[in-house]
Amino acid sequence: MTTKTYSSRITGLHTMTVAERLKTVADLVGLSDAAVAHLTDTATVVGEVADRMSENVIGTLGIPVGIATNLIIDGKERVVPLATEESSVVAAVCNAAKQCRGGGGISTSTSGPLMIAQVQLINVSDPENARFKILEHREEIKAICDECDPVLLKFGGGFRELEVRIIDSAQGPMVITHLIVNTGDAMGANAVNTMAEAVGPRIAEWTGGQVFLRILSNLADRRLARARGVWRAEDIGGPAVRDGILAAFHFADADPYRAATHNKGVMNGITAAVLATGNDTRAIESGAHAYAARTGRYRSMSKWEADADGNLVGVLELPMAVGLIGGATKIHPTARACLEILGVETADELARIVVAIGLAQNYAALKVLATTGVQKGHMSLHSKNIAIMAGAEGAEIEAVAARLVADSKVRVDHAEAVLAELRAKKG
Ligand code: MEV
Repeated sequence: MTTKTYSSRITGLHTMTVAERLKTVADLVGLSDAAVAHLTDTATVVGEVADRMSENVIGTLGIPVGIATNLIIDGKERVVPLATEESSVVAAVCNAAKQCRGGGGISTSTSGPLMIAQVQLINVSDPENARFKILEHREEIKAICDECDPVLLKFGGGFRELEVRIIDSAQGPMVITHLIVNTGDAMGANAVNTMAEAVGPRIAEWTGGQVFLRILSNLADRRLARARGVWRAEDIGGPAVRDGILAAFHFADADPYRAATHNKGVMNGITAAVLATGNDTRAIESGAHAYAARTGRYRSMSKWEADADGNLVGVLELPMAVGLIGGATKIHPTARACLEILGVETADELARIVVAIGLAQNYAALKVLATTGVQKGHMSLHSKNIAIMAGAEGAEIEAVAARLVADSKVRVDHAEAVLAELRAKKG
């Protein structure tokens, strides 16, 4: 892990070549030669590693890993690797983080790494009776769970709480047992699934019902990470911009059609940070969206207000079941290199960074929507893709892209015409 302290204010990173950028970041954080060598290699996952990660593997897909700069998280300067195929996501975080520095950056907190495993009990004639019977066996359940994972226990994790709920379903009442487990620095899916499977038969025995599903819940609402940022009105273009951002938030919070897009913006940052570290993006996504619907209506994941001084304040609280051990985090070389860039020691630290990125990303999207609109920036970044699609190569790509933006026609047909013109001129 890198331990160097540094400033994440890097100017001109976007104008450097890939090699120059990598060198800049490597020098900044003190990246190992091995990580540099790996990142230099365009094949991100080679041979056996990829083959072990999935089934029927025939290749790998390289997703760009970009560096988000300018971040101050809990008073510490940070650069954060983000894996995303979408242009403008990394630039958006850099801008949002830059504008937040005057307000002190982003502050975070967490609820602790508690995961929930569910055991479903069906065909029970007396659900209240069954619920109490299960609760009476708390100590036995704790012992069964803790026996499943002595390593987790050794590192301070293990069973913490028992919760039994009766839910109404189309096929009658079901008794749902929640095993609440501290999974420490692991995401914890394997640990809690093993525990649920071990406890299941005993629950059937005690109640006479039929135990069916035994699986974790991705609505990890005992494993929350929170981020809070203050953007000073003068740093964001004044009170009118602030009020525009507030109006955009209230729209999302009141309307699920807008909330889906607003939250997609949040997840642009969250998923990119989660993917870069080899964590389970789908687990985080399902948990985040379920949490956004916890009041019975799908709402904005973030909340925005103006403080007494007229500054813009944003908060974001999400389930954040990320780990540093298990899954691809330890075996995927790019994920390992990204964790090395982050220099995080605990899953808790990683969860805080991820949720901070989500808040920054949301700010950037709302700001652009409330001011110029997204198309200007998107199109100038997208213009390079369009140039490549039209057949531009090497230096032609920049030249064609610049013309597309200047002509306000970021379209393949226009790119083809510009390319033909350029080539004709060259002779
Ligand atoms: C695009 O990837 C994300 C946005 O649509 C988010 C939003 O509308 O808030 C810009």
